[in-house]
Amino acid sequence: MTTSPPTWAPATPEQHAGDPRALSFVQAYPVRPVPTDRDVDTRPICLSPSAGLEELWQAVVPETRTRANDLHLPIATAYAARLCDAYPQADRELVLVATVLHDTGWAHVDESRIISEGFRGDWRKAAIRFEHEAEGCNVARRVLPGLGYDEAFIARVCEIIDGHDTRHVAFSLEDALVRDADRLWRFDRAGIAMSTTWFSMDPALYVDRLESEIVPELITGAAHRMARADLDRSRGLLRTETIR
Ligand SMILES: [Fe+2]
Ligand SMILES: [Fe+2]
Repeated sequence: MTTSPPTWAPATPEQHAGDPRALSFVQAYPVRPVPTDRDVDTRPICLSPSAGLEELWQAVVPETRTRANDLHLPIATAYAARLCDAYPQADRELVLVATVLHDTGWAHVDESRIISEGFRGDWRKAAIRFEHEAEGCNVARRVLPGLGYDEAFIARVCEIIDGHDTRHVAFSLEDALVRDADRLWRFDRAGIAMSTTWFSMDPALYVDRLESEIVPELITGAAHRMARADLDRSRGLLRTETIR
C-alpha cells in the first residue's frame, strides 16, 4: 500500500458556529470533551454489538451494499449504543436511528465519484459529500413513516444526517453522539482496513493521523476513551511501530 501526502482538509467550525442550535448545544454542554460520570465500555466493539431496530435494518438492506455500509453502519451503531449508555440523557432511539441511516445516501449518488471526490483532496467540501447527506435524508423520509415514526422525529433524524460530514459543529447531544460514533468506527480494525484503502494510506500513517486529526474532533469524553483504547489495541495488533 502506498503512503500519500496529507489529504484530509481541515473542517471549518466557524461556518456554522453561530447557528442558534450550535450555540444552544454549547450553552448546555460548555465543557469539552463532554464529560460523563457513567462507566464507559472501552472493550473491543465486537464484544457489544447493537441490538434491535430489525425492521429498520431490513428496510435499508439495499442501501447497505454501497461503500461497505454493511460494515460501517452496524459497527458505528454499536458505538452509538455504547455512547448512549454513557449519556443516558440523550434520546437513544434518535441516536440509533440516525446512526443506522446516516450514510445510506451513498447508495443513491454516482458510485464512481465516491472515492474520486468523496475521499480525496478537500473531501469535506466535495459536492458528492453534500449529495450523500441529502440522499440520506430522502431515505429517512421514505422508510421511517412506515415504521411508525412521526413527522417531528423524522425531522430530527434528518437534521442530524444533513451535515453529518460537511458541518463541523454539532447541534445537539444526539447529533454529537452520532458524529462520535461515525468517527469511532475508524479506530476499530474493520474501520482501519476499509479506511486505509479508501484514503490510500498505510496503517501506520493512518493510525498516527487518527490520533492527531480525528481524536481532537471527538466531542464526548466517552468517545475519547473508546478511541484511545481502540488506538492502543490496533497499533499493537498491526505492529504499526515496526511496520512503517
Ligand atoms: Fe457520511
Ligand atoms: Fe459514516
